[in-house]
Amino acid sequence: MDKLEFRVEKKKTFDVYNIRKDFPILSRTVHNKPLIYFDNAATTQKPKQVIETITHFYSHLNSNIHRGVHYLSQASTTEFECARRIVKSFINAKFEDEIIFTRGATESINLVAKSFASSFLREGDEIVISYMEHHSNIVPWYMISEQFGLKLKVVPINENGEIIFEEYEKLLSERTKLVAFVHISNSLGTINPIKEIIDKAKQYGAVVLIDGAQSVPHLPIDVQELDCDFFVFSGHKIYGPTGIGILYGKKHLLESMPPYQGGGDMILSVSFDKIVYNSLPHKFEAGTQHIEGAIGLASAIRYVQNLGLDNILNYELELLDYCTERMQEIPQLKIIGNAKNKSCLISFVIDNIHPHDIGTLLDLDGIAIRTGHHCTQPVMQFFKVPATSRVSFAFYNTKEEIDILINSLKKIIKKFN
Ligand code: ALA
Repeated sequence: MDKLEFRVEKKKTFDVYNIRKDFPILSRTVHNKPLIYFDNAATTQKPKQVIETITHFYSHLNSNIHRGVHYLSQASTTEFECARRIVKSFINAKFEDEIIFTRGATESINLVAKSFASSFLREGDEIVISYMEHHSNIVPWYMISEQFGLKLKVVPINENGEIIFEEYEKLLSERTKLVAFVHISNSLGTINPIKEIIDKAKQYGAVVLIDGAQSVPHLPIDVQELDCDFFVFSGHKIYGPTGIGILYGKKHLLESMPPYQGGGDMILSVSFDKIVYNSLPHKFEAGTQHIEGAIGLASAIRYVQNLGLDNILNYELELLDYCTERMQEIPQLKIIGNAKNKSCLISFVIDNIHPHDIGTLLDLDGIAIRTGHHCTQPVMQFFKVPATSRVSFAFYNTKEEIDILINSLKKIIKKFN
């Protein structure tokens, strides 16, 4: 009762209809139609195992962590630190204290930008990012470039929505101090060759940050094998709660970086003459943490591990292929982003129909998609479109749902013509 168990039954086979029963929201209707949720790149739905874990925490364990000698505080501290261990083994970090809890991928990137820059970057140093970054992996680097007199270099992309690797190589030099790359593009679906990107950056001694917000739910991650210096992701995109995220950083780098925020728990001692900061990971975790968020995230990770990331990947790629083929039946529809290595999301435009109209009309059929620039305005500028419509899949989606989407799109096109 007092020990949270991450209760997940081992699934023997990948049975999507059975898996769907774990997600209460999938049985609701929207506008009197069964919900079809194709906005998984924005946020994923939560299985009942995660919901129950959080309810159990509040019903039986709720207390602040690292602060109390009383029973509940010790019990919730144990669960919180157990969550850190689960994240550590999920991405195969070497040490537990390389896992920092943050509010999400965005805060993780901001933490690195602010803290790393103030210790390691000097005027004239260069940071390399790509054209397909989410704004959260552009703006923090832009801000510190302004502040510290750094140069921001941008790797171009081609018409398929892939980075041009030779151009990346050309941008690297002894002046490159940091390379920040998205693993999977949230608006194109492109899976970037991050191992090659990291290896190349290392030849110049650059530190590398990988934005794994879109990759962690779909691909196995091994940060030691990748040899990246920082890896960030958000809990809510991997079936966990919102407001919780992870910064993985190599221990020696995190140790040499100053704290990002000041407050309780990140110090060892405070007087008006001298403050001694706490050791890792607490040095970067000021104030009361999102305790149930961390525990919920660990539960979500266990859920995904029990399904098996390989099973998830295979099934989601089937959905991607099926939807791509079915969309090709529609002559007015153009897919934006045709990378050879692509994850399970599709951005598209339809002749003479604004994406917001498409999104609104699909919604009336119970289908949730995202429309807009997806926080990647440079990608929209490159493809000369103001916005796209985007469907993004999770392992609980089905081919039948894709058929309904295609019929609905055909109906919308007919209506507009
Ligand atoms: N970054 C999230 C998305 O792509 C919100 O929708």
